[in-house]
Amino acid sequence: MHEFPETRYMGSKRKMLPALSKIFSELKFTTALDAFSGTGSVGYLLKMQGKSVHTNDYLKFNCVAAQALIENSSAQLSEQEVEELSEFNADADTFIQREFSGLYYSTADCKFLDSVMANCEFLTDPYKKALALTALCRACIKKRPRGIFTYTGMRYDDGRKDLKLSLRAHFKNAVAQLNPSIFSNGKRHLAFNSDILKFRHRDYDLVYFDPPYFSLNSDNEYSRRYHFLEGLVSYWSHVKIDHDTKTKKIPRVKSDFTTRPTVISGLERLFDGFRESLIVLSYSSNCFPTAKEMKALLRNAGKSVELVELDYVYSVGTHAHKKANANNRVKEYVFIGL
Ligand SMILES: C[S@@+](CC[C@H](N)C(=O)[O-])C[C@H]1O[C@@H](n2cnc3c(N)ncnc32)[C@H](O)[C@@H]1O
Repeated sequence: MHEFPETRYMGSKRKMLPALSKIFSELKFTTALDAFSGTGSVGYLLKMQGKSVHTNDYLKFNCVAAQALIENSSAQLSEQEVEELSEFNADADTFIQREFSGLYYSTADCKFLDSVMANCEFLTDPYKKALALTALCRACIKKRPRGIFTYTGMRYDDGRKDLKLSLRAHFKNAVAQLNPSIFSNGKRHLAFNSDILKFRHRDYDLVYFDPPYFSLNSDNEYSRRYHFLEGLVSYWSHVKIDHDTKTKKIPRVKSDFTTRPTVISGLERLFDGFRESLIVLSYSSNCFPTAKEMKALLRNAGKSVELVELDYVYSVGTHAHKKANANNRVKEYVFIGL
């Protein structure tokens, strides 16, 4: 049995895969779309269940992760390739050192990132490249207090060992975690990078929706939290840094699922676009819309709806007290639209 590598990505469903696995195994389908794929954990589960899987996420670094873990059925990085990727490259551009030294990582770590990004260009197999970039993104998340890029400096450094290891060591560890999770289920898979409301393909037996959970009390803006990784995967060639910001973030990537005036119409258009498919949707009890409203939205798209409630303690970063806090005990909903 292959296992999806552990992750600290906000909203990842990795811990819920056993519950989702049970839900999927009771439905009849062969083709599936993981429409808000994030780390790709659910698409990966569907691949393990023998399905033909497409994934989509509006952030490029998530699309690259799905290429590495789902589309890719055999490419791995050898120890020698990891060594070569990690070698200092004197010809590498110094963009990351110049822009980001001291902001999120030390100059030495930024120098390492510049070198690996240059060395990646020598990888001719696109899946090896996707794997290397995914390992690099995972290394960056692991070495960042709270795993996000909404603040600069090391404010939340809690002395964790992860924060002391070099990015080079994290990169090596990430490859060692990713390599064994690569497998083939004999089917073809594809990873897309689009706003789901502009997504053209419709022909799926089942679609899984895990949109950002909307609440007035918390920020669900993924491009703001992970702007550094979004820039990194293309060496900032598809996005521009906003130099007026202290975090040197990229302009917000618009999503209808992240603002109050657009979230309902976004969900309506989303469900309407996939009327012909079985719909499985994850959402949370402390978010908007409520379960009652969500059921109504799905019914308006012609679905009969079943609701499965999972108990789940929301873990926020590394704050142990928050993990134990009863206020964080939310119900994780899975709506099934038949
Ligand atoms: C809750 S997370 C998904 C987590 C994922 N299921 C996992 O296990 O890692 C929501 C994802 O939706 C993506 N997203 C937000 N708005 C989107 C849009 N309009 N179209 C496509 N993807 C979007 C975000 O980048 C984020 O990765």
